[in-house]
Amino acid sequence: MRAIAVSEFGATPALMNLPVPEPGPGEVLVKMVAAGLNPVDWKISDGMLKDAVDHAFPLIMGMDGAGVVEATGRGETSFRPGDQVYGQFFMAPRGLGSFAEYAIAAPGAAVAAMPAGMIYSQAAAVPTATMTALNMVEKAGVDEGHTVLVVGATGGVGQSAVQLAADRGAKVIATARGDMAEEMRRLGADEIVDHGRDADVNEQVLRAHSDGLDEIIDLVSDQPAVERLAGLLRPGGTYISSIWSVNPDKMAAQQLRGLNFDNEASPALLAEIASLIDASRLRVMVHDEVSMEDAPAAIARGRAGGSHGKTVIRL
Ligand SMILES: NC(=O)c1ccc[n+]([C@@H]2O[C@H](COP(=O)([O-])OP(=O)(O)OC[C@H]3O[C@@H](n4cnc5c(N)ncnc54)[C@H](OP(=O)(O)O)[C@@H]3O)[C@@H](O)[C@H]2O)c1
Repeated sequence: MRAIAVSEFGATPALMNLPVPEPGPGEVLVKMVAAGLNPVDWKISDGMLKDAVDHAFPLIMGMDGAGVVEATGRGETSFRPGDQVYGQFFMAPRGLGSFAEYAIAAPGAAVAAMPAGMIYSQAAAVPTATMTALNMVEKAGVDEGHTVLVVGATGGVGQSAVQLAADRGAKVIATARGDMAEEMRRLGADEIVDHGRDADVNEQVLRAHSDGLDEIIDLVSDQPAVERLAGLLRPGGTYISSIWSVNPDKMAAQQLRGLNFDNEASPALLAEIASLIDASRLRVMVHDEVSMEDAPAAIARGRAGGSHGKTVIRL
């Protein structure tokens, strides 16, 4: 089968021909139709988890995907051949990810029935980013009447965080460069702050919200930027970072709640997301769809920054 893989940590991703995996007991073999790109894909192939788990090479990249169940291993009863599924497929110890014509869902993996009204390329863009957004909005305590700033709102996690916070009745301020402002408003943002070169997010927010924000959901800022932005929170406010830039003790000394976030994925969370999508309370912007031949270049573009919404590989 064709797959996008790396031959060692840090190697350039390449299109390779590799054996179709066999589903073991309790596993599900999925004929993949589309795979979604996330920053974690290249972080893992660079070696982010190398001290935590074994990896098999060539390592097929890719966490997220959507496809059709082809076969099930002994003892697997939740899925049947022909079921349309979406979720997370990456298995480091076996070198198996979603950027391939076939992938394996391990027992207990975050894989669930696809949202009914979605096509594969949209469903593949959902799992990691939207589960992260849902968990972050929940952990931050975003609620009706709150004012929340989403930093990094135009990316995969951010677009879902904006919608989910607005769905809870919060007033949402989203960072976006000029050309993305309207898209963010369509997703439910009440206010837009420009984060482009020469723009100061702090100043723009402070001008309209000198009384302080309730929550900041931050997907991009380093520690110095976080410490500056934290000054926008009211006493008792919450700062949550997806890239571990928060110093909780420093925040506590300023009467703030500081959280560094680690995602917990599950089939139940994917089922909850599928029902939000089916109820038209959540959607996903797919900004780019590429072939397998063009996938290595798309991964390089994602790594360089400047991604808007999600990029999907057609398999
Ligand atoms: N801890 C966890 O469990 C977990 C889970 C999921 C994701 N993550 C991490 O969270 C981060 C975001 O993930 P993602 O999938 O949303 O990434 P993404 O799709 O690449 O999006 C990043 C977005 O941030 C914007 N951005 C960059 N610099 C900015 C700045 N200074 N101010 C405001 N916006 C800025 C970018 O837009 P412009 O290019 O226009 O600036 C882009 O739209 C990644 O580092 C990812 O690895 C962590």
